[in-house]
Amino acid sequence: MEEKVFKTADTEESYRRTQTEEFVENLTDFVLQQQLYRAAIKEMRTKLEILDEAFQVRYDHNPIHHIEYRLKSPKSIFGKLRKKGLPITTESIWDNLTDVAGVRVICNYIDDVYRVAELLLKQDDITLVRVRNYIDYPKENGYRSLHLIVSVPIFLAEKTEHVNVEVQIRTIAMDFWASLEHQLKYKAQDDVSQELRKRLKNCADSIAALDIEMQSIHKELQNARSKPDENDVLPDPEGIGETKTASGT
Ligand code: GTP
Ligand code: MG
Repeated sequence: MEEKVFKTADTEESYRRTQTEEFVENLTDFVLQQQLYRAAIKEMRTKLEILDEAFQVRYDHNPIHHIEYRLKSPKSIFGKLRKKGLPITTESIWDNLTDVAGVRVICNYIDDVYRVAELLLKQDDITLVRVRNYIDYPKENGYRSLHLIVSVPIFLAEKTEHVNVEVQIRTIAMDFWASLEHQLKYKAQDDVSQELRKRLKNCADSIAALDIEMQSIHKELQNARSKPDENDVLPDPEGIGETKTASGT
């Protein structure tokens, strides 16, 4: 009888130890995975910053206004897996979630959005996993943005991991609308009325028209700038040959 009691306590202790070991192992895997996603965000930010700088030097224009990024919180990760009825494991996160690492690129003009996407996807180590063009095909509520899921290699000591990153590229105007719409939806808690939805959609359409107009103004100003200014043209002293601009270019 005494021996039996001992055995049960022993089994319980060993069970608890196995549970603890398993928990620590899972936690370590999760922390390592988070580190990979963080590294992928860093990599993408650097790539985008380099693209922006190179573009500035070459064309005297910054396509990127600013960059935002976020690592999905453990609470959101587990909430999403649970909602989709998927297993709560690091493998499941890896296989099923594409937005753990998120980078948002806010551009000045619509052309910049496509330029940034094109230059990014041209890079040898970037693989396009999925694209959703909500600019050419806006969502019913008026949401506009270009969404790319890309895979980026992260070089570790013993292996290379290809990590998915969600890249949302949009203009300042599109971002302004999306941020406010998100806030309003979040604040409303319950369903937003049909009337307010319609007004939000109208705002989205006005903003889209504004983007097109701003793009057009920017293009005209650029064209005007690339033509030599009449006042810069020096008269040809001999009255023949080529005219020269004041700057000599
Ligand atoms: P999620 O499960 O929400 O991540 O969506 P998804 O996997 O179907 O991807 P999708 O590309 O449609 O949207 C991903 C992200 O885009 C969202 O998490 C939001 O950040 C943003 N987004 C998509 N639709 C809307 C929208 O209607 N309003 C706002 N404000 N943001 C949106
Ligand atoms: Mg998401």
